[in-house]
Amino acid sequence: EPPKLVIPKAVAELEEVDDGKKKVTIFFGTQTGTAEGFAKALAEEGNARYEKATFKVIDLDDYAADDEEYEEKLKKETLAFFFLATYGDGEPTDNAARFYKWFAEGKERGDWLKNLQYGVFGLGNRQYEHFNKIANVVDELIAKQGGKQLIPVGLGDDDQCIEDDFAAWRELVWPELDQLLRDEDDASAATPYTAAVLEYRVVFHDKPDASLSENGSIHANGHAVYDAQHPCRANVAVKRELHSPASDRSCTHLEFDISGTGLSYETGDHVGVYCENLIEVVEEAEQLLNIPPDTYFSIHTEKEDGTPLSGSSLPPPFPPCTLRTALSRYADLLSAPKKSALIALATYASDPSEADRLKYLASPSGKEEYAQWIVANQRSLLEVMAEFPSAKPPLGVFFAAVAPRLQPRFYSISSSPKIAPSRIHVTCALVYEKTPAGRIHKGVCSTWMKNALPLEQSPDCSWAPIFVRNSNFKLPADPKVPIIMIGPGTGLAPFRGFLQERLALKESGAELGPAVLFFGCRNSKMDYIYEDELKNFFQDGIISELVVAFSRQGPTKEYVQHKMTEKASNIWNMLSEGAYIYVCGDAKGMARDVHRTLHTIAQEQGALDSSKAESMVKNLQMTGRYLRDVW
Ligand code: 2AM
Repeated sequence: EPPKLVIPKAVAELEEVDDGKKKVTIFFGTQTGTAEGFAKALAEEGNARYEKATFKVIDLDDYAADDEEYEEKLKKETLAFFFLATYGDGEPTDNAARFYKWFAEGKERGDWLKNLQYGVFGLGNRQYEHFNKIANVVDELIAKQGGKQLIPVGLGDDDQCIEDDFAAWRELVWPELDQLLRDEDDASAATPYTAAVLEYRVVFHDKPDASLSENGSIHANGHAVYDAQHPCRANVAVKRELHSPASDRSCTHLEFDISGTGLSYETGDHVGVYCENLIEVVEEAEQLLNIPPDTYFSIHTEKEDGTPLSGSSLPPPFPPCTLRTALSRYADLLSAPKKSALIALATYASDPSEADRLKYLASPSGKEEYAQWIVANQRSLLEVMAEFPSAKPPLGVFFAAVAPRLQPRFYSISSSPKIAPSRIHVTCALVYEKTPAGRIHKGVCSTWMKNALPLEQSPDCSWAPIFVRNSNFKLPADPKVPIIMIGPGTGLAPFRGFLQERLALKESGAELGPAVLFFGCRNSKMDYIYEDELKNFFQDGIISELVVAFSRQGPTKEYVQHKMTEKASNIWNMLSEGAYIYVCGDAKGMARDVHRTLHTIAQEQGALDSSKAESMVKNLQMTGRYLRDVW
């Protein structure tokens, strides 16, 4: 046996915090909370394993106020982990965007991170083109700037089981940290760590009282700075079905009234919508939990004496409310349960055989069965709970460890503030499909929108907490610059906003450059959404060419990219004249195919070889002339 490589301990070099412990910083860039949850779980286990260390979890946005402070503070870090999710078109999460822009696009800084030992775990989805781009870029850049990589970058894949990917990566982390943070005689080395089931402290109240108003976190926070944590309550002013009765699908046009709220937006931005679960879904959950729906309660992350509960990975609490409200607004009941949720359910299953089966599904040996029985069959949390009727977790456990928070859904805004300053328009296709297990899956937010009661019909109308997320999907600053827009289906949404903006520009006297719109749908009589509006835009010269592909009408399938090929020389000429090209819609199929088509057009029309065509398309992207809003 070769002699064991002895790695000199780096402990002496690690930064110490006030309590004399070594400081380990865990950064996260999170959108839906998964990266944050992993970061907290690593911190929790780290703090439990190493007496000599303090693991701290930090939101990348909260770390520093500006670029200089990022540099100043990062330079001093000696041991850090990064949990970074990649979204949409290879983009960082909102809370990591500022850091990423500064770090990835900033200047060469030499080896200023040479004191840093680090690890990166990425959260992505292999179905998408830029799989874990953000994590990979950050990992490479830290190394380039002198950082010492403790372990290879972890590439979490949400298409499979990202919890497993994290668990596997974490097992690589401990041996490295053992070297850095543990004495040889440290006895705790032998004790394996098992995560406790998370639990809030729950306080039950007789009845709602004024000081426990549940509106607190939902309403405006006084100075009208709205974000995901401080959404704005907006009424549904208008609702309309966009498909004709002949269509077997549905697409909703919805208008949120934002007048008087202080909420504003720009053409091309996204709106985040917190919707509610259907009442039938909520009632099923109430029955499965066997708790009366009018139970009024609050959840707390600290003990009665004010000290924090152990377990820092608790999701953020919500305001005091009834169980019915909590299940409607805050619980994701229809996604597949995570393995940690199965373990929490197992802990409260009174029937031992149910507990065993739940534990098995969450265990490494049950991996295949979890992938098949739960993930592939799209079994929802409620479906799984119905299969294990003896597992009735208390509320503090259910909301901490079983049901994740219901996440806001994002939509490309389909209006322009120049035409609709007090309205945010949304164009939303209904998600309604049969799962392999036979359940009818109704998308939470699209179903809510389809069922919404607009102010037009009732003063007691539907409302939702909403907020705006800025995007860089914007028209060229100069309206004379030609544009090419490609948006089949609801991919049309932001372009409707673009066209409204061009209309307003034209009315205020601006000269408009050419604009070609490629739209696609199944059939001209069923799902040609906003047909009249588009035809009017064409007649008024807001669009210079309207090209529509019908995929289920003629003898062959026609998609937007086929139409692009027909118009190849036109597209090429426009691009040569400085046109911007925009793509919106499905990332996995359409946007990928359109991208290939663009590449082919460059090759054939420009007589370029494949690599020259590629760098031409890249160049369009780099210079901000090829923009994608894809999901
Ligand atoms: P299909 O449903 O007939 O396959 C809006 O959803 C339109 O986009 C529909 O006409 C749909 O056609 C079409 N579509 C589906 N996959 C596509 C792809 N990969 N590229 C372009 N269009 C696509």
